[in-house]
Amino acid sequence: MTEKKDLTRRGFFSYAFMGSSLLAGLTLLTYYIVQFLFPTANKNLTRKVYITTTDKIASGQSFKFKDLKGATITVTNTGKEFIALSTKCTHLGCQVFWKKDAKVFYCPCHEGYFSPKGEVLKGPPPKPLDSYKVEVIDKAIYIHVDEVYNGRA
Ligand code: FES
Repeated sequence: MTEKKDLTRRGFFSYAFMGSSLLAGLTLLTYYIVQFLFPTANKNLTRKVYITTTDKIASGQSFKFKDLKGATITVTNTGKEFIALSTKCTHLGCQVFWKKDAKVFYCPCHEGYFSPKGEVLKGPPPKPLDSYKVEVIDKAIYIHVDEVYNGRA
């Protein structure tokens, strides 16, 4: 003879509470395991660095500076926006130069050309120039560069 148990409202909520607690616990545990195994997986290790003011870079002009690792970065005023790019060519690493008249970045090593946004226009470079996020706050230009101590140097 089998005994049929009716599920009371209290019993139902008790099971529902235990199930949701178990699910929340497993989710939290999974999060901590992923954080432990991949400590930098979800961290954006950049630093916002002040560069100059908007009036110092006229439309069509480019401004160069060194980042925290010593790499050269250029900020260009396209007339519509400010764009920060690495000056290291993506072909073999030569320095690219801003050609003001043609409004392109030029790599003299193998005749590589990039647009003001860093896209490859001509030549052997296999991919665009590395770019950086730019923020303009009250005429001050900031860019987000990689942290020095992130282990990706
Ligand atoms: S290194 Fe720039 S085109 Fe070759």
